[in-house]
Amino acid sequence: MTVVDESIIQQCMQELESISDQHGLDQVKAKYLGGKSVIREAFKRIAELDPADRAIQSASINTIKREITEIIFAKKALIAEAETLAELAKDSVDTTLQADFCRQGALHPLTKTLDDLKRLLSKMGFDIASGPEVEQFYYNFTALNTPRYHPAVTAQDTLYINDDQLLRSHTSCVQIRMLEKHNPPLRIFSPGRVFRADTPDATHSPCFMQCEGLVVDEASTMRDLVETLKCLLEGFFKQSLELRFRPSYFPFTEPSLECDIWFKNRWLEVLGCGMVHPNVLTSVDIDPQRYRGFAFGLGIDRLTMLRYQIDDIRSLYDGDQSFLQQDDELC
Ligand code: PHE
Repeated sequence: MTVVDESIIQQCMQELESISDQHGLDQVKAKYLGGKSVIREAFKRIAELDPADRAIQSASINTIKREITEIIFAKKALIAEAETLAELAKDSVDTTLQADFCRQGALHPLTKTLDDLKRLLSKMGFDIASGPEVEQFYYNFTALNTPRYHPAVTAQDTLYINDDQLLRSHTSCVQIRMLEKHNPPLRIFSPGRVFRADTPDATHSPCFMQCEGLVVDEASTMRDLVETLKCLLEGFFKQSLELRFRPSYFPFTEPSLECDIWFKNRWLEVLGCGMVHPNVLTSVDIDPQRYRGFAFGLGIDRLTMLRYQIDDIRSLYDGDQSFLQQDDELC
């Protein structure tokens, strides 16, 4: 005697064929596997069987139960997939809809200039260097051949923290800091913020940015200085330029020069430079008989203003969003 006939598997499969949703599936599941199902009934009837038959019969019910479970499970997966596809078809993305406009940040014009200078100077073999903005009088002046009562100290007036500490008035201090640490040959550049006791107006700011350049070796000449600056400025303005050098004075270079460029039909001063003064080398125990070099200090703000036609230096510092957002026009 068999308590359940295998044909119920076929029967279940046939019923499932017409089912297309979860609700229908639940009903079939209840009918074949639930509390009042044929399978459950069959298990109950095992007890009435001859003990010798019980094991075989219960194994056979279990096999049928497992198969029906698998069939129902497979159907469940099919229904879920069909439901997902139907949902997707309903909610398909309309790619013609306007996306929300997401405003992207823009690089500050000074950052762009800085990046360009870094790129150009690195290509010419200069290593980047840095020094503190709160600097000792010694590095800002004394070691740069500028004793305390030299008129150049007043000319570069800045904010003093005390007699020995000040906000650096130029990036030339980094020359000394690097020469103290590294033996020549040396080729460095150092961009950064500098400070002067100036009242802000269209062309002056108490805080602005400079980029120092320094080469010390056994062979550099004025020609190398001129060619380096020509290469740097032409690379920066992306055009060939006429350069003009005028005699000038800085305590730490001899001779000293101002460099102008012919730009938009006028001469514009862009930087100060010169051959490193022997006293500067002596102050860092480098033999001026053997070593020589050149230095330059350019105004990052000035280059930025020229390139982007900005006529008021304060625009670079007052954080006005409408100015800073005009990235596209500036590029
Ligand atoms: N430090 C000078 C200035 O601030 C610029 C300069 C740098 C000149 C290096 C000569 C050599 O004006």
